[in-house]
Amino acid sequence: MKRAKTWCLAASAAFVFANFSAGAAAVKPVMPQLRPAHGAVQLYVDGRPYLILGGELDNSSASSASFMQPIWPKLAAMHMNTVLVPAYWELIEPTEGKFDFASVDVLIVNARKHNMHLVLLWFGSWKNSMSSYVPAWVKRDPQRFPRAQTPDSKSLEILSAESASNLQTDIHAFTALMAHLRAIDSVQHTVIMVQPENEVGMIPEARDRSAAANAAFAAPVPAQLTDYLKLHKESLVPSLRDAWQSHGFKTGANWEETFGAGIATDELFNAWSEGLYTGKVAAAGKAVYPLPMYVNAALIRPGKQPGQYPSGGPLPHLFDIWRAAAPAVDMLSPDLYFPNFAQWANRYARPDNPYFIPETGRASAAEMSANAYWAFAKLNAIGFSPYSPEYLSAEEQKVLSESYDTLSQMAPLILAAQGSDKIAAFRPPVAFDGTEDLSAQSITLGHYVFDVRFKLPPPVSTGAREDVPMPGAHGGMIIQTGVDEFVVAGTGAIVIFNTTGTDDNIAGIESIWEGRYVKGTWVPQRCLNGDENNQGRQLNVPAGKFSLFRVRLYHYR
Ligand code: DGJ
Repeated sequence: MKRAKTWCLAASAAFVFANFSAGAAAVKPVMPQLRPAHGAVQLYVDGRPYLILGGELDNSSASSASFMQPIWPKLAAMHMNTVLVPAYWELIEPTEGKFDFASVDVLIVNARKHNMHLVLLWFGSWKNSMSSYVPAWVKRDPQRFPRAQTPDSKSLEILSAESASNLQTDIHAFTALMAHLRAIDSVQHTVIMVQPENEVGMIPEARDRSAAANAAFAAPVPAQLTDYLKLHKESLVPSLRDAWQSHGFKTGANWEETFGAGIATDELFNAWSEGLYTGKVAAAGKAVYPLPMYVNAALIRPGKQPGQYPSGGPLPHLFDIWRAAAPAVDMLSPDLYFPNFAQWANRYARPDNPYFIPETGRASAAEMSANAYWAFAKLNAIGFSPYSPEYLSAEEQKVLSESYDTLSQMAPLILAAQGSDKIAAFRPPVAFDGTEDLSAQSITLGHYVFDVRFKLPPPVSTGAREDVPMPGAHGGMIIQTGVDEFVVAGTGAIVIFNTTGTDDNIAGIESIWEGRYVKGTWVPQRCLNGDENNQGRQLNVPAGKFSLFRVRLYHYR
């Protein structure tokens, strides 16, 4: 049977230009859900498409209501509409079977007060591989709650995925949380998504070596997995297909007979084992209260082996394993901290994977913001979420605030355009070592070609010949809102206009207005001409800030 929920991206419903009122119809209390929409998959909240302009709180902030008090207004001032925040198992079930949801309730109250939504992160069995958030009564009872082990039978502080009692205990707590959400939030939908577990994967081993895990490893690969592999044989991730093919596309054989002996197969096994467990947690939670669910992945530094990075997490080379193991998980999502953001981001862009970036960071707020524009326009992302925004400097918070302000003004336009050919992104690719490729980028929308540049000609007085990189971050988006009309937003670029035609090769600027959308209505501010557009030659998207423009073009021979 084909995977029940394959997102159909083929739909090409007519694009409605700037349909700001589209979502204004009567709102029913339908569950937040992922829905195919004109070639994209979008998150719908209360029946309307919703763009997550998020931030994920530092791990420990939400464990204290008083610590959070000054943080809420800061998040609101950054124009965040959604906060990603842990639900800590250790605080929720301090005594077995006795639940205390005070730490979740106070988040919901404050999110509502600040007109925000929440994504809850279930810090359950695993948080960054480890089991540090399990309650004390789990930590202290390794007989009942067995740990993963090393080859020499030393226990790790990681619950074994092969233990039924670990799984049942996690499910018991997680379903209690979901039932609580259903009881207190099924009308208001303050909580719009849930992440079961956090950055799953084994460290420092490539797989659990406990007796139970060894037995499962020596047993036949489960039919649930081999059935999936058979069904998706032609579209499997190449490394997985190669491993399976070189062992004769076996079914009914053990892991090493099916995929070969070695660390890569150890990782496949761990992905299956922890993926199955996570998928069962997700499915049990959804059966109680069906919010969209995603898992997040710790990515791989160059040259690292499974176990040196969290082995078996929802990584691109393990997509098929996770899809087979955890069909209740809607999205496999990257935590994008590396400088080569776009390179990694592209590896998660698959037709069967709605796009969400739950964590990003270790870059300036301007770089992160430029990545956000790119992700919304290029990848149809449903959301974007810098990590630890409460600890950004005041200066950095100002930058994020400005970019989120612009994105929130544009959200209706972005949501109407995602998946169609009316939206495009520009952003120089960056290598892992941080080197930026500032080559010009060419974008075609309708009848026009946009030549986007990130360098300026050198000042004549210097006599220099090389173009000079514009300072700061570079990136943004262009949305076509009419035959000759475009909205351009971003930072650090120059846009020169051409046509696609051969007999009408002049593209001219009729007007460029800088302005804002206020409650969906365009409010023009400055009419940009003269020195501001190089005497009609280009659109300047200034560096050092995030700006929004409406551009009208014309073309003739
Ligand atoms: C990724 C984890 O998922 C987060 O909880 C947090 O620990 C960050 N890393 C810190 O960089």
